[in-house]
Amino acid sequence: MSDVVNLAILGSGLIGGIHARAIAEVSNARLSVVIDAAKDRADKLADEFGVPAVYDLGEALKRDDVDAVHVCVPSGLHAKLGTMVAEAGKHVLVEKPIDITLPAGQRLVEAGEASGAKVAVIFQKRFTDAGRRLHAGVSGGDFGRLMQCDAYVKWYRDPTYYSDSPWHGTWAMDGGGALINQGVHMVDLMKWVGGPVRSVFARRRTALHDIEVEDLVDALFEFESGALGVLQASTATYPGYPERLDVHGTLGSAVLEGSDITQWAVKGQESQTGGDALPTGASDPGAIGHRYHVPVIQDFVDAIREDREPMVSGRDGLETLELVMAVYKSAQEGKEVRLPLPHDWVPEPKVAKL
Ligand SMILES: NC(=O)c1ccc[n+]([C@@H]2O[C@H](COP(=O)([O-])OP(=O)(O)OC[C@H]3O[C@@H](n4cnc5c(N)ncnc54)[C@H](O)[C@@H]3O)[C@@H](O)[C@H]2O)c1
Repeated sequence: MSDVVNLAILGSGLIGGIHARAIAEVSNARLSVVIDAAKDRADKLADEFGVPAVYDLGEALKRDDVDAVHVCVPSGLHAKLGTMVAEAGKHVLVEKPIDITLPAGQRLVEAGEASGAKVAVIFQKRFTDAGRRLHAGVSGGDFGRLMQCDAYVKWYRDPTYYSDSPWHGTWAMDGGGALINQGVHMVDLMKWVGGPVRSVFARRRTALHDIEVEDLVDALFEFESGALGVLQASTATYPGYPERLDVHGTLGSAVLEGSDITQWAVKGQESQTGGDALPTGASDPGAIGHRYHVPVIQDFVDAIREDREPMVSGRDGLETLELVMAVYKSAQEGKEVRLPLPHDWVPEPKVAKL
């Protein structure tokens, strides 16, 4: 491989465009090709960035100017197409979630391990200054012993978000609703900051939207450390509030809202509030911008060049999916669920309406 890593984008929808803008700001990398099964979409993004368009992943994988593929297609295709990429010996950067089922996610991780391809999952919240500082504060003991770690994703999606998309809000391609699609960012951050989870109790509803999956979920977590946490995820909460992570330890508390730390109160320590105050996806999925995709892609490119694990590996992404599945399993069975889950567990496509 040359010093510059050649990156292809698979899926030229909303997030594919964000990837293209982000790649332009990444060192030692270039966008080499755009792939989409919908010709008009591939052509549009490819033209905008002056690269060739390809309409079939298999064709793209034969090209010498593709070292890695960004998987930006609907979530239910992540592992199927990502596994093709890894089996061709090309590196994989897959959008969240790694897939919508554990067995499929596992196949992708194993394909990467077998061929030596890197597999990384996009959870850009870990790359925000606020997220990093909160993680370092908790793991460095700034807050004392962790007592509670709570995540709130009270977002809103206009009904057209579901009705205008062929795959949002479907079991087949979204794999669930407000939790696996929107809430998953904070599930990942909660796990990264609060540590491994021992058990989950959850309830879910389809409260507002005309969809087959949940748009409301509440869960209670017990971390392996003994700390507790609650998670609330929604796409039904008008007007939509910035996502939040609260940590409370024996010495003090902090609150992260969006990409900002809005409270940091530790006995005997100066307050460390602040952050980037960037727009969140609380009520508009297009508002997130490409800013935090830049460090994620930079880390992926550096991991390839330095032959090391990316910061959020495929195995990491699989653990976050396992936590999502534990919430679904608890809500489905109406009882507490302990981790780890059986690796072949998949949810039943059935949610109570409110
Ligand atoms: N990290 C984030 O904050 C973030 C934000 C939005 C979306 N996402 C993730 O990105 C992924 C895509 O979401 P989106 O909003 O861009 O969706 P989208 O519907 O806007 O775009 C998906 C694209 O994939 C293409 N596609 C579908 N099947 C294909 C196939 N078999 N081969 C090639 N192309 C195919 C479609 O034509 C479309 O252009 C999802 O998994 C979603 O969870 C992540």
